[in-house]
Amino acid sequence: MQKRNATLGSPGKQAAGEAAARLVDDGSVIGLGTGSTTAFAIKAIGRRIDEGIDVLAVVTSYQSEMLAIEAGIPLTTLAEHPELDITIDGADQVDADLNVIKGGGAAHTKEKVVAFSSDQFVVVVDGSKMKEQLDHFVPIEVLPYAKELVMRCVHELGGEPRLRLASQKDGPVITDNGNFVIDAAFGTIDNVEALSISLSMCPGVVEHGIFTDVVDAVFIGNTDGSVKRLDTL
Ligand code: A5P
Repeated sequence: MQKRNATLGSPGKQAAGEAAARLVDDGSVIGLGTGSTTAFAIKAIGRRIDEGIDVLAVVTSYQSEMLAIEAGIPLTTLAEHPELDITIDGADQVDADLNVIKGGGAAHTKEKVVAFSSDQFVVVVDGSKMKEQLDHFVPIEVLPYAKELVMRCVHELGGEPRLRLASQKDGPVITDNGNFVIDAAFGTIDNVEALSISLSMCPGVVEHGIFTDVVDAVFIGNTDGSVKRLDTL
């Protein structure tokens, strides 16, 4: 499995993150995703705050909380601001219909809540994330108690489940919400919507990383610093 954040300094990620940060309007309430591409957006939003714009942000993980605090972005919660103007977040893979798979950093549950709470959901990626059809493994956050049942569900849906193990701790990855993550490989996913619904129906699944019908725009950063924008039709 590919090492997490292996391309931390990717110019494509930086270009996409910084371009999306320019969409944030003065006075808006925003959602901040998680991951190395969003980190560039968070830093850029922090610089815009230094220049005088006013924003409040809801974070999706301890990582985005720490980055936002470091960047000087004032925080709020969904309890105080249930409707967000815009959320910027990364993705592990994006298909031609702008369905995405997220959760490489195990933050997809809060990321999905924040995405669906936003008027605009903007995904930031480098070109390596674009694929005609999704074939990335699907991260599934599960209650530890339900691990075996969810693995059985994944098998029944034709997938190959694997419990995500921590790299600097013995045993499984524990999410920010105190749960396990099962990475499920399905090969090429022909019916993204159907798989998304089926996974959600398995008891013990907290949330999976397939996001359909929520992306408004994707910013794709290239190594030369240029950015292409795709909008949902
Ligand atoms: C976090 O769980 C993920 O959904 C990330 O947004 C996704 O893995 C993209 O991360 P990078 O921007 O680091 O590639």
